[in-house]
Amino acid sequence: MTSIPIFRTVADMRAQVQDWRTDGLSVGLVPTMGGLHAGHMALVKAAVKKADRVIATIFVNPTQFGAGEDLDSYPRTEDADVAMIAQAGGAGVFVPSVSEMYPEGFATRVEVDGLTNVLCGGTRPGHFNGVTQIVSKLLNQSQPDMAFFGEKDWQQLAVIRRMARDLDIPVQILGVATVRDEYGLALSSRNGYLSAAEIDVARQFNVILKKAAYAIGTGGIASEECNIAAEALLAAGFQKIDYIECRDSDSLEPVERLESQSCRIFGAAFLGKARLIDNHLVA
Ligand code: PAF
Repeated sequence: MTSIPIFRTVADMRAQVQDWRTDGLSVGLVPTMGGLHAGHMALVKAAVKKADRVIATIFVNPTQFGAGEDLDSYPRTEDADVAMIAQAGGAGVFVPSVSEMYPEGFATRVEVDGLTNVLCGGTRPGHFNGVTQIVSKLLNQSQPDMAFFGEKDWQQLAVIRRMARDLDIPVQILGVATVRDEYGLALSSRNGYLSAAEIDVARQFNVILKKAAYAIGTGGIASEECNIAAEALLAAGFQKIDYIECRDSDSLEPVERLESQSCRIFGAAFLGKARLIDNHLVA
C-alpha cells in the first residue's frame, strides 16, 4: 500500500508545499471533510491530472454546520480516507485539529454577499460564511496553483469562485462533474444516513430534477416545472422539500424561461435523516 505524509499543522503542510514550489512543481488542493467516496476520488484524480503534486485536506469544519445539523454524526474515517487519497495519487494529506484551524481568540469572518442568501443559504443561515472562512484559510495556508470542488455543491463552487475573484486570491478554482451511482443518484457522504428503502426513493431525485430541466429547456415555465417536480418528489416519498428552483449558473439569479443564459435547476429535499441536494444544467 502506498503511504503518503499526513500533516497536522499548518507549518508542516506549508513547508512541504514550499519544497514542491522550490522544485518548480505545481500544486493542486482538494479540500474535503472526509467520509470519502468515489465523488471525492474524482476530485483527487482531476487534480492529479492537472497538478504535479496534490494535497487533500480532511477537516470537518464546525463553523459551516448550523444548530441541530449533523456535525457530531458526520462520518470520520481518517485511515480509510488517507488510503483512498494515496491510491488516487495524492501526495499528502492535511488533517488539522479544530484548535489548529481556529486558535483561541479567532475572530475573522469572510462573507460573500448575495450569492449566499439564496438556495441553501436561505435555509442554512451562516453555512456559506463557514465555508468561505475555512476555504480562504486553506487557500492561504497552502497557496496552491489550483483548487478543486465538486459540481454537486454548485452554489458552494459559485461562492468560492466569487470569493477568490473578489479577494484576488491567486488560485484557479476548478469544478469537477458530479459522480453518480448507476441510477443517477449523486454520491454524497450523507447518503450513508439512508436505509436501503430510502436509497430507492433518493434515486428518484435525479430522475425528477432531470425531467424538470428538460421541460424548462424545451420551453416550459420554470416556476411551474419546479412546482411539478416538488409534488413528484413528495409523491415519491421525500418528507419535505427545501427548494426546487431554476437559477442562472453564475449569478444564481432566478430564471423563469431559458433564453441565452446558462441556467440550472437546483433542488434540496429531506429524506429520513438526510438532506439531499442536487442540480442539473437546463439545456
Ligand atoms: O464541500 C465540502 O466538503 C466542504 O464544504 C469544504 C469545501 C471541504 C469546506 O469545508
